[in-house]
Amino acid sequence: MNPDTDVLVREMGLRDGLQMISTFVPTEAKLAWIRAELDAGVREIEVTSFVPPKLIPQFVDAEEVTTRAMEMEGLTVMTLVPNLRGAERAFALGVHVVDFVVSVSRTHNLKNVRREREASLEDFKRIVEARDAAGLKGRTRLAAGLSTALGCSYEGRIAVDEVRRCAAFLAEAGAEEIMVADTVGYADPKQVREVFQAVLAETGALPVAAHFHDTRGTGLANVSAALDCGVRRFDASLGGLGGCNFAPGASGNIVMEDLCFMLDSMGLRTGIDLAKLLAARAIPAQHLGAASLSGALARAGLPNHYQTATERAAATH
Ligand code: COA
Ligand code: ZN
Repeated sequence: MNPDTDVLVREMGLRDGLQMISTFVPTEAKLAWIRAELDAGVREIEVTSFVPPKLIPQFVDAEEVTTRAMEMEGLTVMTLVPNLRGAERAFALGVHVVDFVVSVSRTHNLKNVRREREASLEDFKRIVEARDAAGLKGRTRLAAGLSTALGCSYEGRIAVDEVRRCAAFLAEAGAEEIMVADTVGYADPKQVREVFQAVLAETGALPVAAHFHDTRGTGLANVSAALDCGVRRFDASLGGLGGCNFAPGASGNIVMEDLCFMLDSMGLRTGIDLAKLLAARAIPAQHLGAASLSGALARAGLPNHYQTATERAAATH
């Protein structure tokens, strides 16, 4: 991680946010959105999803968005892939980070990617092999995401041991990061502690990231619980855009601006300029309507006399 930051915050809005939205956001607007967040200090952005465009037409421009995002200096470009075919498309472009997803819930995996969970886990092994065969080892990082790890709209609570076993399998297969996701926003902080402690105990030195949705208002409390476990990588989306087409009742990710504010208030440096981040909302707002974006910081503004984590650290030295 960059020595000037304590927590890595990653933008998911262009993928998680847009995958459920039928309004096509023009390619140029997607790129302007990415540029605005990069300029605000967001260093890792999931820019698109390599899914069949017939299934999700929003990502018909996946190749173009990825290629042009990769030309932006200082940006780590992440793309979601649901299977080997998607990974091959990402490898062809030499993407920096490939985020593979598998659901811990068997039912959600069947609905989402139309195959058994075990088949998806095996697919990840083939993805590692394909990455290495393409000569991209050490260049394209492979992250493995565990969807519905904290609850599923079809199956309800997910056993901690199931999450732990999937994490262990993916770590053993060569994942360079494990991402644990509360896809449908069912989690509470107590459960977050249990699940993350179990996963962290299994994965050793491997980075573990948290991906929370704020569907029931527990998102930032869950971040606090994950921080207590030692997690330092968090996914979020500008204005809390987000959801999953194959998980009934899913809604937005935790709000990027609110997350960055909370972390900064806690003295944890994110490297992100809050004012610039708030200004970036204008881009998705223009295409999706201002009402589709939520956020407490955008509504209330920064506290009077607010000093950033960096300013406070400088003042005490
Ligand atoms: N990108 C582009 N095309 C793809 C593809 C990909 N990632 N994966 C499969 N295809 C193509 C195949 O080549 C095949 O094409 P053809 O009909 O011309 O031969 C066709 O799609 C069907 O392939 P198949 O392997 O049978 O896929 P499927 O119909 O079983 O669907 C997924 C599986 C994974 C592609 C689909 O369920 C999916 O994209 N799910 C992701 C859902 C999602 O984005 N959820 C939210 C994020 S967690
Ligand atoms: Zn999500």
